[in-house]
Amino acid sequence: MNIDLEQIVKPLLKWFQKEKRDLPWRKTNDSYRIWISEIMLQQTRVEAVKEYYKRFLDELPTLKELAMVEEDQLLKLWQGLGYYSRARNLHKCAKILIEQGKTELPRDYEKLKKLPGIGPYAAASIGSIAYQLKTPAIDGNVLRVMTRIHEDSRDIMKQKVREEYFLKLSKIMPNNTRDFTESLMELGALICLPNGFPLCQSCPLSFICQSYKNQTMLQYPVKKKIEKRKREEKTILILEYKDKIAIQKRPDNGLLASLYEFESINEKLSLEELKKYLNQKKIKIMNIKQLKEAKHIFSHLEWHMVGYHIICKILPEKEYLWVTKEELETKYSLPTAIMIYAKDLKK
Ligand code: ADE
Repeated sequence: MNIDLEQIVKPLLKWFQKEKRDLPWRKTNDSYRIWISEIMLQQTRVEAVKEYYKRFLDELPTLKELAMVEEDQLLKLWQGLGYYSRARNLHKCAKILIEQGKTELPRDYEKLKKLPGIGPYAAASIGSIAYQLKTPAIDGNVLRVMTRIHEDSRDIMKQKVREEYFLKLSKIMPNNTRDFTESLMELGALICLPNGFPLCQSCPLSFICQSYKNQTMLQYPVKKKIEKRKREEKTILILEYKDKIAIQKRPDNGLLASLYEFESINEKLSLEELKKYLNQKKIKIMNIKQLKEAKHIFSHLEWHMVGYHIICKILPEKEYLWVTKEELETKYSLPTAIMIYAKDLKK
């Protein structure tokens, strides 16, 4: 559905002027204070943040004081908010900036994103709230509003969907970037509610909202559940005979299609179990060395691996492609998952 989003700007800002909540971080233009509030608000409810925000800034009113504080004292100030990595990242960030002789956060979206603990969302919210940058902050609230307006059934966990709304909203962003960002968040928090029925009767954007028109609000946003990854165990066998290594090509469809791989067994074998296995397969060994365990995570699958480097006494019966270590490195593509074992061969 193609919607002229420009039309949302005026009604949204007008609504915000009337309905906005009186929140402590809305009373300042100080980027330091806005940064602290955005980080606190990332995983904590507005009501809970209020008190922490005040206490934190009473103790550490400037970037410099945050940079200088003892970690223990900082963590004490954070105690109860949870997700302590947020506090550690604030600390790291302040130290970096003060060491660089800065007195405030950078006024640049890309530079903001490079700082510890500042992802695309925080960079965009700090940029638009404190620095008049046209960087719309795309959080869960904003995605809910947008996907309902557009009846967009794509998965909001997808980076691409977030980037697309970032671009769309940045194009219509008025000069008052702060109010625009805050008004979208506010609409998501007060009207376009996540649980139960949204309050469409009071919504300034119902005139353009496709899901309101079709009464499909509750179908949006679509958030695909991350399926639990399947766990597979593997024993990777690096067979060597006369200074050459056995590899084979994977099938030309499915996982890691057409890449080369070492021989493997779909379970983790101990050295004793492996010796029995090799005996059954009539692989005669001269030497065998256990390699370190390794793990590789695919989107839907995890491989938990153990490896063995086996020097064969005679050529194994099964047909392999026998290649030198150099060819293995330069000529054949191995999946990253088993690269760790290929690298070890060079040593
Ligand atoms: N959630 C995240 N940032 C916020 C803000 N600035 N105001 C209200 N709620 C928020």
